[in-house]
Amino acid sequence: MKTIYLDNAATSFPKPEGVSAAMKTYMDEIGATINRSVYGSAQDAGLVTLQLRERLKKLFHFPEPVTHVILTPGATWGLNMVIKGFLKSGDHCIVSSMEHNAVMRPLLQLEGVAFDRIPCNQEGLLNPDHVETLIRPNTKLLVMAHGSNVCGSVQDAKAVGEICSRHGIAFVLDAAQTAGHIPVDFEEFHLSALVVPGHKGLLGPSGIGALLMTDSFAKAISPIIAGGTG
Ligand SMILES: Cc1ncc(COP(=O)(O)O)c(C=O)c1O
Repeated sequence: MKTIYLDNAATSFPKPEGVSAAMKTYMDEIGATINRSVYGSAQDAGLVTLQLRERLKKLFHFPEPVTHVILTPGATWGLNMVIKGFLKSGDHCIVSSMEHNAVMRPLLQLEGVAFDRIPCNQEGLLNPDHVETLIRPNTKLLVMAHGSNVCGSVQDAKAVGEICSRHGIAFVLDAAQTAGHIPVDFEEFHLSALVVPGHKGLLGPSGIGALLMTDSFAKAISPIIAGGTG
């Protein structure tokens, strides 16, 4: 019996041919870690990651330097970094009512941070005009899933971004379900940060993702993980 894989919202399958081959080559023939060692193979591996970050910058029309394209272990990681690193006790945050647990659970863990959900209609779409009615003097952040992992609705990120920009609210887009499928434009959407996984529409393996942040947003977040440069 032929099996047809339909679970691409969870993770894409099959991956393009070169993906496992590239991972095998790295494990069997390179093995060195980047940004930690200075011999040839470590520097070659570093160059590969630099090229990847350059490609992500281009794909998402990211206007800031490639130093602000951060590779993460996945979208959940990036969302935790921005939510827990940016929001402080006393802040207010707005989210859509279509958020993934990767947004809702970190938000619920934060003490003293209030949030409101933008309602969505039966098609799973929010009305950007509703955002303005939820803004409070202490609203610092709006986090929104671009595409829903449940019903596939795609929000108007440009309209929401324009409102955030007008009110000086940081805007983080969770493009877990749209990156690699439909255009995601950092500049056009007025983003402060963009979070993407590698293992869905970008057709990469599990365990990799990216976080792209403006310089001012990056300076406003406290690191939730600390350690060596590697
Ligand atoms: C909308 C949305 N956000 C975040 C995530 C988490 O992504 P990751 O598996 O890369 O941590 C998913 C995964 O299903 C998702 O659908």
